[in-house]
Amino acid sequence: MDLILASQSKTRQHILSCARIIAKAVSPQIDEENITISLIAEKASPRDIADTLAEHKAKKVSVKNPLSWVLGCDQVLAFEGKVFGKPKTQEDLRQSLIRLSGKTHRLITANVLYHNTEPMWRHISVNHMSMHPMTATEIETYVEKQWPDAQYSAGGYYFEKTPHLFSEVRGNWFDIMGLSIGPITEYLNQHITETVFKAPKIAAVLGHPIAHSKSPRMHGHWLKTNKISGSYTAIDIPPGLLSQTVQVLIGAGVMGFNVTLPYKEDALALADYQTPRAKAIGAANTLIIDLKGKITADNTDGYGFITNLKDKSSDWLPQAGPALVLGAGGASRAILVSLIEAGVPKIYLSNRTHQRAKDVALQLSPLIEVIDWEDKERYLSMVTTVVNTTSLGMIGKPPLEIDLSSINSKATVTDLVYTPLETPFLVQARSFGCSVVGGLECCFTKPFLDLKHGLERAP
Ligand code: ATR
Repeated sequence: MDLILASQSKTRQHILSCARIIAKAVSPQIDEENITISLIAEKASPRDIADTLAEHKAKKVSVKNPLSWVLGCDQVLAFEGKVFGKPKTQEDLRQSLIRLSGKTHRLITANVLYHNTEPMWRHISVNHMSMHPMTATEIETYVEKQWPDAQYSAGGYYFEKTPHLFSEVRGNWFDIMGLSIGPITEYLNQHITETVFKAPKIAAVLGHPIAHSKSPRMHGHWLKTNKISGSYTAIDIPPGLLSQTVQVLIGAGVMGFNVTLPYKEDALALADYQTPRAKAIGAANTLIIDLKGKITADNTDGYGFITNLKDKSSDWLPQAGPALVLGAGGASRAILVSLIEAGVPKIYLSNRTHQRAKDVALQLSPLIEVIDWEDKERYLSMVTTVVNTTSLGMIGKPPLEIDLSSINSKATVTDLVYTPLETPFLVQARSFGCSVVGGLECCFTKPFLDLKHGLERAP
């Protein structure tokens, strides 16, 4: 199939690539603004405006490429019978938000397929978007932060970047982004191609902040190499808005989430169902959505950790002896549960704040014995697994001060810290002949496993 996308939009190109559809992008060069003005003057409905613009784009490109299939798309924001364009100035954006705030508008996405200069198929999706009321200060902050990016989007917002602005969404993620990939793949499969395309699934990692997250790149690579139809994105959610934003995203068809700091405990609390391990850990890093929109919270942190440890240190045997775990924070709980599940017979847990370790041990397992932070070196000769779960040794944090000279050289030593790639703690362990596994390896393996796990369980 020779398909041309009559658009230079990076988002639309990305959506097609998520469905593994190869298309050339050609700019249709139509005078969108004047066509819209004349359609409004003719009292055309917002739906007809979107459809006509999509058709103009497809037709223009089809005339020059009659043998190709050409897809034209357009999106219009309709509110109280009027069409909202892209804001041209900051004042436009301010006025647009003032009017949309606290109300429901429609995002209409039109898709038209042309072949041999004739329209062959069309589809219009209507997405109902309800915005939270915004205070004047919130609007000002938004204008300040989001300008000038906002000028490229109808209404001045990008749902995929700021879903927390919405209280309810009835629609589909990709339709909202500007291309109805579900109906398009269906039509292509039935009428045009031998290849069976699948409508992509959408998943996201949620956190605050989230800009640093490597997950979208890693998942993008993983989806591509495994030829999976899907998209994975990172969404920053401001404090206090996790639960309601997750519901909004579910309304838009998001099928799964990874959750990172600071929301792992909140993610567990908002779920309809909790897996036993998430419950034991007291935190979730994965939310799976079923067909009815119900949420299951899981925690795969430990699963990824153990899989990676077995992978990278092939002679590591959990049953071979006790483990020493440094740190009793959020990350530690997942590691402790997974070590016990894997068959480690006993765990010495050492934490700067003794009582925190006591609470964790009491909650998780009688196999955990809490030892003083000052005493940790005394246990090194007795253990076959050592894990640092504290942030010590990370670039910008204090070093992990520990003398490993008494360590059992058959021990496997691992560190959740991965900046630097090999921490001084691991360098020292290696110098005493131990097998070492770096934190980055855990970090690389884990998100793949999370998503794979999620997709396998998803309906
Ligand atoms: P995470 O979810 O990443 O585990 P956390 O819950 O804040 O983050 O836990 C951080 C861990 O690093 C804790 O075990 C913490 O010890 P405390 O419980 O005493 O706070 C440990 N940690 C952080 N800074 C430390 C330091 N300077 N010395 C010793 N331990 C430290």
